[in-house]
Amino acid sequence: MHSYQSQPKVAMIGSNMMDLITYYDDSFPKIGETIFGKDFEIGFGGKGANQAVAIAKLGGNPLVVTAVGNDLFGPLVKENFKNQGIDTTWIKTVNGKTSGVAPIFVDKNGDNSIFIIPGANSFLEPEDILQMKSVLSGVSFFLLQLEIKLETVYTALNLAHELGKKVILNPAPARNLEWKYLEGIYLFAPNETELHTLTGVNTNSHDEIFKGAHFLLEKGIKNVLVTLGEKGSLLVNDKNNRLFSAYPVKSIDTTGAGDAFIGALVHFLSQGQGLEESIDKASGYAALSTTQRGTQKSFADRETFENWFAQQPKREAFILE
Ligand code: RIB
Repeated sequence: MHSYQSQPKVAMIGSNMMDLITYYDDSFPKIGETIFGKDFEIGFGGKGANQAVAIAKLGGNPLVVTAVGNDLFGPLVKENFKNQGIDTTWIKTVNGKTSGVAPIFVDKNGDNSIFIIPGANSFLEPEDILQMKSVLSGVSFFLLQLEIKLETVYTALNLAHELGKKVILNPAPARNLEWKYLEGIYLFAPNETELHTLTGVNTNSHDEIFKGAHFLLEKGIKNVLVTLGEKGSLLVNDKNNRLFSAYPVKSIDTTGAGDAFIGALVHFLSQGQGLEESIDKASGYAALSTTQRGTQKSFADRETFENWFAQQPKREAFILE
């Protein structure tokens, strides 16, 4: 495990949740109906925490800014971060609030449906971020999602702009955004559904996805990366459109795969690797995570990932017109 001494390169300002995961086989209960589920697990989750843990598992030292409640889960969440080698100094405890929880339902194909109840995450305030200005001035990347209050996200975006930091924004879950805050973002990474919700553009074909992505580029975003699950990902910028294919694996649980992807991508970027190489490796990291059950516990450590990745056939991104 690395020490806290190395200077963090990535600041993750975002959420954490306790994942309450139900696995079921055939049908989902209708209103008024009780049926047997197949299995249940509690795990550590939350898009922000998951992305930070992916970074830590790959050997990085993310600066984590998040909030927990003063309930049963709060100390467990902090302990989990510590166990991953993450400094808990910037984790706020909110009195009188519950920690964030996420009831998750995974079907027999490994696909999931998720509720989030953010609890204390909604009490990470703009002032909490502004107070950290000097600490945050030491990182190179700000990593953000949308599971905390939007005012706090906007404050972080403004601060990143003022400090000249690169921002990676994973707009999940999709919410109505004020576009003026997005100008200058280095990388905006929605999935297809989020792209549709955010832009109103359909996402049934590459051409439609390019249209949605160009809508975002016009807002001043530099790179739009649309993740397409097992169909790979599309990078759209003012140079060209590139398709990165996914790594074929036998997937059993996709929960957290998007976070594994984003966390790994930011980690590789923060290590000085190029955007395309980072996307390709992150896509491998995400694929590998779907071969295990659970969220953070399905994320491989650096050695396991590198050994697996070294055995995968090399691939190039396709340029699409
Ligand atoms: O992206 C997966 C995550 O979404 C889960 O860990 C859950 O907590 C929700 O935040």
